[in-house]
Amino acid sequence: MSERRQLYKGKSKTVYEIGQPDELLVEFRNDATGGNGAKHAVLDDKGRVNCAFDAFTMAILAENGIKTHWLKSVTDTEILVRRLKMLPIECVLRNRAAGGICKRLGIERGRVFTPPIFEFFLKDDALGDPIITEDHILMLGLANKEELVAMRALTHRVNEILQPVFAKVGFDLVDFKLEFGYYQGQLLLGDEFTLDGCRVWDTQSGEIYDKDRFRQDLGNVIHFYKEASKRLGIIIGEVPKWS
Ligand code: TMP
Repeated sequence: MSERRQLYKGKSKTVYEIGQPDELLVEFRNDATGGNGAKHAVLDDKGRVNCAFDAFTMAILAENGIKTHWLKSVTDTEILVRRLKMLPIECVLRNRAAGGICKRLGIERGRVFTPPIFEFFLKDDALGDPIITEDHILMLGLANKEELVAMRALTHRVNEILQPVFAKVGFDLVDFKLEFGYYQGQLLLGDEFTLDGCRVWDTQSGEIYDKDRFRQDLGNVIHFYKEASKRLGIIIGEVPKWS
């Protein structure tokens, strides 16, 4: 691969230009952050686990007709992706109540939402990623009506695809966050789908297997990430067969 140039260093991933105008290299690092960066740790093997987890979820989504940025695994912590023009919006879908919605609306943790709840958030660290309405997005000129409809529909579709995958191995997919961007005029799923950006509970015991272990100081974060991966059949550290 040709020489890489760091384009952007996020909280847990670094993005590099690699000399191909339409492609980027994404490195999953061992950094974990919480509270909008207030809390930070370096967790051994996190990058490898997240890279393998992301390859697994992105492959399932692609097999089921969701267009994503994911192109191939490069190493056990790096992937090649399509270069998207990202919308500064986070799409959250909730099958059950946890985290932000409990605090905001005073509802009990674990409540099941039928149908699932969809929310937009503004991707803005300085503002603490606030929840926003469609009118706010339109007023700020961040996306148009058609894009809002498409992001909402794609997020629900991702849920329909992934919820059964988790359920099959005894997990509740409680909620998750997606980000979208444009590639050659098409809206594609970007960013990642890992245990950093979703909530996953054991269906029987309610045990937490996601980043809330870090946020809430529950300990053994990567142990649980690896256990969740194992149950889903993800092999960590191997460049996956679908690459
Ligand atoms: P929340 O309960 O904190 O609003 O988060 C809902 C889900 O979305 C949870 O799985 C964490 C994920 N999420 C992120 O990964 N990053 C974000 O900036 C936000 C707002 C949510």
